[in-house]
Amino acid sequence: MLQIFFLFTLLLYSSHASALDFCVADPKGPIGPSGYSCKMPAEVTVDDFVFSLGMAGNTSNIMKAAVTPAFDAQFPGVNGLGISIARFDIAPGGLIPMHTHPGSTELQLVVHGSILAGFVSSNNTVYLKTLKTGDIMVFPKGLLHFQINAGGIPVVAFSCFSSSNPGTQTLDFALFASNLPSAIVEKTTFLDDATVKKLKAVFGGTS
Ligand SMILES: *[C@@H]1O[C@H](CO)[C@@H](O)[C@H](O)[C@H]1NC(C)=O
Ligand SMILES: *[C@@H]1O[C@H](CO)[C@@H](O)[C@H](O)[C@H]1NC(C)=O
Repeated sequence: MLQIFFLFTLLLYSSHASALDFCVADPKGPIGPSGYSCKMPAEVTVDDFVFSLGMAGNTSNIMKAAVTPAFDAQFPGVNGLGISIARFDIAPGGLIPMHTHPGSTELQLVVHGSILAGFVSSNNTVYLKTLKTGDIMVFPKGLLHFQINAGGIPVVAFSCFSSSNPGTQTLDFALFASNLPSAIVEKTTFLDDATVKKLKAVFGGTS
């Protein structure tokens, strides 16, 4: 009797343990600070753990750049694992404007071309470097950073993130693509009215 009970608890325990191996995102479920809820393990397939970043993104935009994310929303297998990746394509003359990932450190590898990359620490120290093919740079969690094509040829780079949903806040978009009233943007940035109106027109901000 005791042996049967022991076997039963062992079975229960092991089935529970295998369910904890991963938490593939269930896109139909709720999303919270720790990501998506888990898909039923029986519905998980190998394709949940595989994703392609083989295609260049479309760089026909004001930044002449594209970021193709493989975060939990696109790549359900990384949900809950504290890791993700994105592909960067930056055309000649292109850039990724000043931005931050509030909850994630970024580690970038340049695989084609060259970029001028930098970040600004919270005491306003600037860390700036021209990266060539094969170089990596780390951008610590939460700090403002940017990347500019520095080689005159298309850049391909990949960044790993210490979160399955790093989130991105871009300075230009927050100020000039939002509906924050121009008077407040002017007051808080010390920029003049003409400059703020011009930038709102460029980025699509209202009011
Ligand atoms: C790239 O984006 C531009 C602007 O949105 C669009 O006109 C163009 O068709 C896109 N190119 C491709 C190959 O999708
Ligand atoms: C900012 O931090 C750097 C690196 O720790 C340090 O060398 C520098 O003195 C600091 N600057 C200020 C203004 O506190």
